Amino acid sequence: MKTLEEHIESRRTFGIISHPDAGKTTLTEKLLLFGGAIHIAGAIKAKKASRHTTSDFMEIEKQRGISVATSVMGFNYKDIKINLLDTPGHKDFSEDTYRTLTAVDSSIMVIDSTKGVETQTYKLMEVCRMRNTPIITFINKCDREGKSPIELLDEIEEKLQLQVCPFSWPIGTGSQFKGVYNFQEKSILLFNPHKTEKDSSASLIKNPSKEKLISLLGESDTEQLLEDIELITEMYPPLNKEDYLNATTTPLFFGSALNNFGVKELLEGFLALSPTPKERETKSRNIKPSEKTFSGFIFKIHANMDPKHRDRIAFLRICSGTFERGKKYHHVRLNKGLKFSNPTAFMAQEKSIVDTAYPGDIIGLHDTGNLRIGDTLTEGECISFIGIPHFSPEIFNFIINLDPLKSKQLNKGLEHLCEEGVAQLFTRSSDSKKIIGVVGSLQFEVIEYRLKNEYNASCRFENLNFSKAVWVQSKSPTDLDTFIKKNPNNIAYDQKENPVYLAETQWGLDREIKENPDINFKFSNHI
Ligand code: G4P
Repeated sequence: MKTLEEHIESRRTFGIISHPDAGKTTLTEKLLLFGGAIHIAGAIKAKKASRHTTSDFMEIEKQRGISVATSVMGFNYKDIKINLLDTPGHKDFSEDTYRTLTAVDSSIMVIDSTKGVETQTYKLMEVCRMRNTPIITFINKCDREGKSPIELLDEIEEKLQLQVCPFSWPIGTGSQFKGVYNFQEKSILLFNPHKTEKDSSASLIKNPSKEKLISLLGESDTEQLLEDIELITEMYPPLNKEDYLNATTTPLFFGSALNNFGVKELLEGFLALSPTPKERETKSRNIKPSEKTFSGFIFKIHANMDPKHRDRIAFLRICSGTFERGKKYHHVRLNKGLKFSNPTAFMAQEKSIVDTAYPGDIIGLHDTGNLRIGDTLTEGECISFIGIPHFSPEIFNFIINLDPLKSKQLNKGLEHLCEEGVAQLFTRSSDSKKIIGVVGSLQFEVIEYRLKNEYNASCRFENLNFSKAVWVQSKSPTDLDTFIKKNPNNIAYDQKENPVYLAETQWGLDREIKENPDINFKFSNHI
């Protein structure tokens, strides 16, 4: 029987951050392949296929089903239980993507070598920075003609303000890509585009002499490689693990997910470096995972697919102690006891009832309306985990009720959908109109469809020309009041009556920030 400490030591919970099409799905599949969860590949591909046809309502249902299944992908590798949390990035990009990152202990950042650092990576990186989440970088698609590796390193350092520490280095790119050099092992891994098997160790050559290199790579690539090794060793000092754990430096690997090249090295590097479940902050004190009593928080809610049963699955991240099925736990916000008789674990794609779960694990709890995003469950202590925020939406629409007799249903539906984190609801101060704010446009289709299907309410949307919502606060109530009165058409209130400034453009927002030094503009707000 493992002790609690041993369970903690053998767990890693992480997410992948990337811009659409950088290769996250492909990398996920290859990682799962190493974990022996091969049959999961089908589900991930299905998810990808569905995202191209999301305007079809049947597809929305299908996608929702698949996305429950792929929300958490657990697998074992070398006695380590790895929990990979999905961070949807295409049209299905939503606040859930951001919030999922509050439940991980580290991330892998995938960058397309032909594109460099792209916008969504930048945004997700900012979320990681809020909690100092350690990041390992994988530069993907080295088999394609890409940017020069030095240029990519500079881009990461400049755009993401993250020091890099190359663990591997590409030999040639595109059609001339020959493999990678490993700085730790002083070995080279040769690239064979036709090789598909799991284990690429056969083409690993340790400590090759110059003659050996020439015979394998040719004279000019050998010279280039030796020059690169010298340069990189001089420019980038060896990794200080503390800097990685404090999220100021990112260890970096090169490879090609599609060719399963460099993925094993990435996984091994990840296991050697990445943190075990971390201490978590609450409003009153920090909670260590090794504390004997159980605690955890809800970071995501998924509505049931069957509209007749309005139960939902709440995703709980376990922060300390041992979770036991059927035991009564304390719901801090509601101050009441709750029992979960069928908690679900997500292992190798198969959902199964779980009897015990440990820090770092994610379990699904069936809920009939008691749980909300941000809720804390404990064994009795009144603590509340912090750092599960609302994020600033970027696309806004007025929502218009098409059937005045159904306004009660519409409001109820909106309340539920907002609790699930599908969207945020604001009320404009000047005319009391209701505004829906989201971070990914698909959410509007989801809202319209679900209001009709689950609440029998019809609505339409009217586009609004805002691109950012930021919470406004001030130490001086008079200053805040003056600012609100000055901008009636740009001020709305969130569901907790907090004032929010809606900006048309980043430029306009920057101007307001500059002109109003006494107002604090916040891009996220605690739930
Ligand atoms: P995503 O989840 O980050 O959006 O990316 P995904 O894995 O779906 O990959 C996007 C495209 O990039 C896919 O091609 C995939 O095959 C390709 N890709 C991923 N890794 C590599 C790599 O290492 N090298 C090369 N050359 N391509 C890579 P697609 O044509 O859009 O889809 P598919 O038809 O191949 O599935």
